[in-house]
Amino acid sequence: MVKEICCIGAGYVGGPTMAVIAFKCPEYKVTVVDINKERIKAWNGDIDKLPIYEPGLKEIVKKTRSNNLFFSNDIDKAIDSSSIIFMAVNTPTKDYGEGKGMATDLTYVEECSKRIAKMSKSNKIVVEKSTAPIGTAEKIKETLSLNNKNVKFEVISNPEFLAEGSAIDDLINPDRVLVGGDQTPSGKEAISQITSIYSNWIAQEKIITTNLWSSELSKLASNAFLAQRVSSINSLSALCEESGANIQEVSKAVGADTRIGNKFLEASVGFGGSCFKKDILNLVYLCKFYGLNEVSEYWHQVIKINDYQKNRFASRIVNELNGTVNNKIITLLGWAFKKDTNDSRESASIDIANYLLTEGAIINVYDPMVSNELIHDDLVNKLKSNGLDNDQIESKISRVNIYDNIYKAAENTFCLSILTEWDEFKDINWAKVSKLAENPLFVADGRNIIEYEVRNSLIDRYISIGNPKIIKSD
Ligand code: UDX
Ligand code: ADP
Repeated sequence: MVKEICCIGAGYVGGPTMAVIAFKCPEYKVTVVDINKERIKAWNGDIDKLPIYEPGLKEIVKKTRSNNLFFSNDIDKAIDSSSIIFMAVNTPTKDYGEGKGMATDLTYVEECSKRIAKMSKSNKIVVEKSTAPIGTAEKIKETLSLNNKNVKFEVISNPEFLAEGSAIDDLINPDRVLVGGDQTPSGKEAISQITSIYSNWIAQEKIITTNLWSSELSKLASNAFLAQRVSSINSLSALCEESGANIQEVSKAVGADTRIGNKFLEASVGFGGSCFKKDILNLVYLCKFYGLNEVSEYWHQVIKINDYQKNRFASRIVNELNGTVNNKIITLLGWAFKKDTNDSRESASIDIANYLLTEGAIINVYDPMVSNELIHDDLVNKLKSNGLDNDQIESKISRVNIYDNIYKAAENTFCLSILTEWDEFKDINWAKVSKLAENPLFVADGRNIIEYEVRNSLIDRYISIGNPKIIKSD
């Protein structure tokens, strides 16, 4: 008999994860469902226009779609026919009520749990895939059993550790897979069923099983540790700029210590993405809730340094332009929160654009993957959150131009600022840009990607992260 799995939520987590499970486990029929009709239509449509861009995803979807991987809006049917249901719905930070701006909004998780309870006629294993606060699995369990007393539900926490831009590789060759569940006989049986899916391609020693709470906390802790490394190196980048040290040299020297390791030590304009800020705020909120104020403050500092880094960089651009960017064009290169993704959630670009718009700048944007609609919506939402009314938002947005070409975006600009480390930015023809932009050519490199020779020979004024500024001398 074909084993049926479904996943509720066809987003950045659900889509790639299920594509890889279908690819590696041909004996399973995998159905990914979503309330969003457009998204499902896109998953079923042109292979070159999937709703999510991830290197390698297209090839896997091509091989599995309509064989053992299906995308559908019929959520109820998928729940009914599957014995294992993954939940990969969004878990944003609450923007209302108790815990506003910190706690996780579990509305979607709750809706989803109620729907599973309502539609289930046989026993199910429900897998919490979305990152959620500690204790969410308990709440899911409660919701399921209160709303359906006729079937037995087991709830498993199986957090995703994929990073966008390398999701497929992370899923195929993960450092570890975490499966947390109740330590009862039926809980252990459920753990073993989920483990057996991953055993199809992942070595047993990489599959870690824990209790529910440890699994949930480990996910938050992993993201907090990673973000903390970025904030640590970014905090030192400020010191480098003042003292004459070079952050890349410091990073290399520090990371060469095998106890520290060399990954996640790249100074940048600030981390973004849907997880880091949300997960740390969640940790901060939880610690406060338990009265652990010192612990809460410790982790909160990671976010504060990140905000400081973004503001610091934007303010350095303004300072280099004689303290005013009023009516000056500033070109932002990159809108995605990192390269190789079309996702812009919490991208530093949004905050930098907001800062510069507030200072009166005209903003040109170029990103190879993020859609114009998304850039527009990100800015409108940001301006709304600043408390601007519709007319004020309209007026600011009219000062933003989105281009599909770097060189068009560079025309008459006072500064080109690299905010995402897209590979194509390493090959920019700076001699050509120099003819299009205002002189002297000013580049603010928020990702430290421009080679030494280029910046010394072709760029008149160059600032970057964690290095003193360079003025070209002819
Ligand atoms: C992260 C975790 O890595 C992943 O395990 C988890 O499942 C989800 O959250 P993601 O946010 O997709 O993944 O990308 P990641 O590669 O972690 O980058 C996050 C941000 O940190 C990006 O803006 C990136 O540019 C920035 N970053 C990363 C740095 O600024 N410097 C670094 O050295 C590394
Ligand atoms: P993530 O990065 O966590 O995958 P996304 O926002 O990309 O987040 O994806 C989450 C998906 O979950 C969205 O496509 C959203 O429409 C879907 N979703 C949210 N709530 C429900 C629900 N109750 N039923 C089905 N799909 C849902």
